[in-house]
Amino acid sequence: MTASIANSADIIGVVGASGNGKGLFVKDYLRRLGKRRPIVVWSPLEETDDYATVIGGEAVTSIAALVAAIKAGKKRLVLVPAGSGKPFKATFDRFCRLVWELPGWCVVIEELSQVTTPSWAPPSWKKLSTAGRHRGLTIIGTSQRPAQVDKDFFGNCSELRTYAVGYKSDAVAMADTMFLDYRDVLKLPKFHYIHRDKAAGTNTPGVVHPPQK
Ligand SMILES: Nc1ncnc2c1ncn2[C@@H]1O[C@H](COP(=O)(O)OP(=O)(O)OP(=O)(O)O)[C@@H](O)[C@H]1O
Ligand SMILES: [Mg+2]
Repeated sequence: MTASIANSADIIGVVGASGNGKGLFVKDYLRRLGKRRPIVVWSPLEETDDYATVIGGEAVTSIAALVAAIKAGKKRLVLVPAGSGKPFKATFDRFCRLVWELPGWCVVIEELSQVTTPSWAPPSWKKLSTAGRHRGLTIIGTSQRPAQVDKDFFGNCSELRTYAVGYKSDAVAMADTMFLDYRDVLKLPKFHYIHRDKAAGTNTPGVVHPPQK
């Protein structure tokens, strides 16, 4: 992954119960990506995640402001979506439509279970997660609850990274798509993960380290 970070069009799924290290991985990825690609992050928990600082960019709170920032040539952006329920999902739909028009960008979606279900996702998200690679997009999606996320996404990931999850159903969902035993997911200690490279067909264990305070 490190060698190809600048030019590959990857779809990366990052899964695990709260506090296991998903954000640590995503932020490390974005830091390593640096300025080589424009970045936009869907960040509902921006107050604590602070992706804007990580990417050295700007946070906006509406699609209109995001469109204006992109038109102004800004290339390191964070959308902090407001609201809940249907309006929240409608904003996600508009976000996905916008991202489709940004070939070559790296897009991060924090907590997919807020905006999709196992049997439903906005068509614009389905388009991104099935054809985004053809637009040269790198897409990173995180979730605490993979059993509650649309299946197309994980099926299309070029890389999957799972930490321990909270429910057996989540472990089974990851086991199905990573071709491993769900018990191996459930017994992962904090910060430990299994990484699947789909093309190579390999599962490799690893561990992330939180920065020293
Ligand atoms: N900058 C930091 N300095 C020190 N510790 C950190 C830092 N960022 C995260 N941590 C710690 O690392 C652990 C993992 O945090 P992380 O944000 O990666 O969790 P997560 O898997 O994204 O969880 P959630 O699903 O709640 O977003 C947490 O215990 C957190 O307190
Ligand atoms: Mg997180």
